[in-house]
Formats: sequence, C-alpha cells, structure tokens
Amino acid sequence: MVSHDPDRLPLGDAHARLITERRSTRAYLAQPVPEETLRHIVEAARLAPSGANLQPGSFIAVQGEVRQRLCEDLVQSWRAGAQEGEDYAYFPQPMPMVLRRRQVASAQALYSALGIAREDRGGRDEQFERNFRFFDAPVALVVTIDREFGPGGYMDLGMSLYGLMLAAQSRGLATCAIGAMASFPGLIRRHLGLDENAHIVCGIALGHADPAAPVNTTRTTRCKLDEFFRTLG
Ligand SMILES: Cc1cc2nc3c(=O)[nH]c(=O)nc-3n(C[C@H](O)[C@H](O)[C@H](O)COP(=O)(O)O)c2cc1C
Repeated sequence: MVSHDPDRLPLGDAHARLITERRSTRAYLAQPVPEETLRHIVEAARLAPSGANLQPGSFIAVQGEVRQRLCEDLVQSWRAGAQEGEDYAYFPQPMPMVLRRRQVASAQALYSALGIAREDRGGRDEQFERNFRFFDAPVALVVTIDREFGPGGYMDLGMSLYGLMLAAQSRGLATCAIGAMASFPGLIRRHLGLDENAHIVCGIALGHADPAAPVNTTRTTRCKLDEFFRTLG
C-alpha cells in the first residue's frame, strides 16, 4: 500500500490536486455554507454522466428541526442496538480476507489519529456515533436512489458523489460520505417523508474542515498502481 501523495502527480495539474487533497473529513467548523455555494456543489453531482442518461439518485439537504429529530432518533436507535435491513448490500458478505485487511487498516488510521486504542470499545463507539450526527457538519445531505435501480444505477450515482466531493474541495470545503446511514433506511424515510421507493444510499457531511481536530489528521493508503492497473497485449 502507498500513501496517495499529491507530489506523485504532475505539478500544476489543478484537477489532480483536488483529487489528492480530498480526504474524508470528520470534524467541521460551525461556519455555515452559503446556499448558493451548496447549489453550485450539488450542480456538479447533477452533471455527472450516467448510462443512457438515466440520472439515478437524488440529494436532500436536511436542516433545522428535521435534522435534529433525525439525528436524535438515529443515535438512540444505534445506541439501543436496533437493526434494520439495508436497502442494498454495501459490503461483501462474507468479507474476503484481503478486503478485511483494508477495512481494518482504514479503521486503524482513524482510531490512531484519535489516540483511541484497539480495545477501547467506548472510544470507538463514541466516534462511530458521530456518523449519525453527520459529524456536526453545517450541511447534512441524504442520498437516495429509486428502488428500481440495480448495480448500474449505484455506479452512476457514485460518479455524482465524487463530482460533488471534488466540487466541494475546489471551493475549500470538505466532505465525508456516510454509508453508516444506510443501516437505518426506514427510520430515515419516516423522518424525511419519503416513500418506500426511495432507497437510502448514504449521507454526506459537508462544510469547512476543522484544522485543529485530531480526527482530520487521519490518512489512508491505496493499493499500488500495479495491483490496480495492468497492461495486456
Ligand atoms: C460511499 C462511502 C461511504 C462511506 N461511509 C463512511 C462512514 O459511514 N463513516 C466514515 O467515517 N467514513 C465513511 N467513508 C469514508 C471512507 O472510510 C474513506 O473514504 C476511506 O477510508 C478512504 O479515505 P479518504 O476518503 O480519506 O481518502 C465512506 C466513503 C465512501 C466513499
């Protein structure tokens, strides 16, 4: 595994810089994101390509009392150990060992940035719970997809998600996708007044990164290029 290092990409390549500087950010300043900026960022998601231009998915900015009640309910449900079936299977079941190692490495990167020891279950739970508060980011987005879509639709929607992340990055804003939200699809639909057709894909936290927060020093790695890409013929 190698660190994804901006210096490995050609200097002056502004797009490469956005890609290499983006990180999942899990602590935010209270500074609000102007509505116009948010709209520009979501526009990048809207313009993503999709197979046959089907344009799956939608983004909902959850605010005010609705957000407060949603987060309280998510936290309570998670603390109570409530279980709901996900609308889609995010992780492979069972998880092959090579992927399990990557999962553990990313968790270790996160918890070591926070100084949380492997056996500190309480500390880990406290961090995990923050998923359900959108890491207190000023913007809390919920991403949905119509139930008719299969893997192709999710692939298309992933392009929108990344477009949104890079658009945020280009405006000096940070993001974190929150797949943990997909654990409580029924609860989220109830709070947002969505019908059963709206499958819950993930949340997204968006805002100004808190530069002083230890959690934001988390650094992940990637597999080597020759594991990811090869040339044949
Ligand atoms: C679709 C998606 C869902 C994710 N869900 C979560 C999550 O629920 N909680 C979390 O802390 N990080 C979540 N992440 C962040 C990943 O852990 C992170 O992208 C990965 O470890 C690589 O780190 P980086 O984004 O800083 O490069 C998610 C990322 C993606 C793309």
